[in-house]
Amino acid sequence: MAGCGSWLFFLTVCAASLFGANAEIKLTIPAGRLFTYELMRETFQNDFEPLSKLYAGRLYDDPMIFKCNRQNFPDLPEWLRFTQRHPFDNGFLYGTPMTPGKTFIEIYATNKRSYDTARHLLVIKVVPEKTLPYQAEFFIKLREIEKVLPPSVQDEIQQDLQKLWRTEALEIVNITNALDRGGRVPLPIAGHFEGVYVKVGSQKYFSECLLRVLTLEHQKQCAVATKVRAPGGCNFCSIPSNCITWCKTELFDLTKREPEPPAPTMGSGVLEAGGDFHPPESPPSRDFFPDYMVTVVVPLVLAIVLCLMLAYIMFGRREGVAKRNARTDQIQLYHHHTIHGNTDELRSMAAHRAGPPPLSTLPMFNCRTGERGSPLQSDSIPLILAQQDPYCETLPRK
Ligand SMILES: *[C@@H]1O[C@H](CO)[C@@H](O)[C@H](O)[C@H]1NC(C)=O
Repeated sequence: MAGCGSWLFFLTVCAASLFGANAEIKLTIPAGRLFTYELMRETFQNDFEPLSKLYAGRLYDDPMIFKCNRQNFPDLPEWLRFTQRHPFDNGFLYGTPMTPGKTFIEIYATNKRSYDTARHLLVIKVVPEKTLPYQAEFFIKLREIEKVLPPSVQDEIQQDLQKLWRTEALEIVNITNALDRGGRVPLPIAGHFEGVYVKVGSQKYFSECLLRVLTLEHQKQCAVATKVRAPGGCNFCSIPSNCITWCKTELFDLTKREPEPPAPTMGSGVLEAGGDFHPPESPPSRDFFPDYMVTVVVPLVLAIVLCLMLAYIMFGRREGVAKRNARTDQIQLYHHHTIHGNTDELRSMAAHRAGPPPLSTLPMFNCRTGERGSPLQSDSIPLILAQQDPYCETLPRK
């Protein structure tokens, strides 16, 4: 990385151990500068493939996913982030450490074709480094975090910013996905990107171009319009996708920073001896009688009254119901009588019946023509005739 003290960047693959699956990688990085580490799929592919296969010329390009965590912890340290867009892409570990010390990062790679896993150990040693007093943050709208993290792209961006700052002594302090800062997931349409914040720092004071960000005119312009071009002579973006959003530029002058408030002094966690425990005074007592009246007594009285009314209707007025029942019985008895009488009457009428029986009861009566065939001819009459007429009784044939 240009501009970055390369003496700080040692990469030692220590133990590409016997099986090749437990490599330990040691890195030394300065505090307060951006750290990026690309998890190359090819490196892990070598772990998955026996050497004989590699020499035989069979090369695989397997999808892989990575899981990174601090050794003996479930997650990464606070300052370190991991990103991988797709199993066919490389992964990135990136972040800005602020406190010196050693961190052990475990990287587990899972081959999504064979479900083999490989483990690498990353030992990150953070060494103290002076913070850069003048820092500025820029928003790059047309970028995504993975596209910005490769060193070549970082260099491109840094070169543009060096021109803007008019100094070579510039270092990238932080790169953040806009989604981690309240940005929105873009529509899945070409030309929409998540956006990236890039923070750079320098020992040199801000250039005139940068200082325009602090002017009232700039603030007014940005409050009105969403798209404000960089003022004349300050537009240094060579690659369109690396152009900064001028209105989202922020300057930080750390020399003017107020001294941090002193850290709170920690006690031993044990109460000092002596002194009695005084429980806090209980609050004044409240009168709950009106509440009791409204919620309990009133509904209770209503319920009792309703109960009594229901009881009176059910039992007190029983007599009336009985009377009515008696009348119904009488009506039913009377019915009985008349049915009996009618039957007797019909019986007596049937007893002296002398007339001829109805025609329809006679055999071979044709109900349509009224013709009475003789029983002898019965075979010549088609049966279908009787079936056609729905109003004709079907006569039993003898
Ligand atoms: C880098 O950016 C992230 C996300 O905005 C933030 O949490 C972190 O504190 C920043 N680090 C430094 C050193 O500015």
